[in-house]
Amino acid sequence: MTDTTNGEHAVTGTSTDWDTAAASFDDEPDHGLRDPEVRRAWASRLRSWLPERACDVLDLGCGTGSLSLLAAEQGHRVTGVDLSPAMVDLARAKLAGRDAVFLVGDAAAPPVGEERFDVVLVRHVLWTLPDPARVLRHWAGLLRPGGRLVLVEGVWGTVGPVGIPADRLAALLAPLAGQVHLERLSDDELLWAKAVDDERYALVARV
Ligand SMILES: C[S@@+](CC[C@H](N)C(=O)[O-])C[C@H]1O[C@@H](n2cnc3c(N)ncnc32)[C@H](O)[C@@H]1O
Repeated sequence: MTDTTNGEHAVTGTSTDWDTAAASFDDEPDHGLRDPEVRRAWASRLRSWLPERACDVLDLGCGTGSLSLLAAEQGHRVTGVDLSPAMVDLARAKLAGRDAVFLVGDAAAPPVGEERFDVVLVRHVLWTLPDPARVLRHWAGLLRPGGRLVLVEGVWGTVGPVGIPADRLAALLAPLAGQVHLERLSDDELLWAKAVDDERYALVARV
């Protein structure tokens, strides 16, 4: 997630031109996961959030496919969806030769037809979508029985913060999920390659 407090990039979210942002998106340590320590930290978290057995993961707002690649490396089959054709091109290149397909489309209504998944994985996207309650219901409907939503979100920046707080997202999930696990991520500097003092978390919801 681009930092809104240090001027590294423009504020992310609905105002961002993602096609333009795509070329430099991976320059942020938590985007490109190029630093082995940062990569290991995300790989370890992801492994704990995903099922142990190989399964079908739908990565919505997949960006350049950094989390898609980690999931594929852990043996999962990945479908990625992103509204930005430039992001999708980079994700296709990043996962060339893997069991992965990438589609241009809206995360709120992914173009996956009747296909169903074991996991819907979404990092740093839900907060930008209008009507998150409706979107979450739609995502829950894309899951096979016993499937899970893995949502990595936060509230970024201290001046004019943007995002969705964990308690609000947990409340939206409550009617849909039997079990919701909240993991706080702010204290894990390895994930962000720096100390952060805003709210960052993952919610794993079994639907
Ligand atoms: C902050 S980036 C996160 C990318 C990726 N999930 C990650 O964690 O590296 C947000 C991504 O969401 C995509 N996006 C924004 N709105 C979208 C929408 N309505 N449908 C699909 N993708 C969208 C953008 O193109 C961008 O690739």
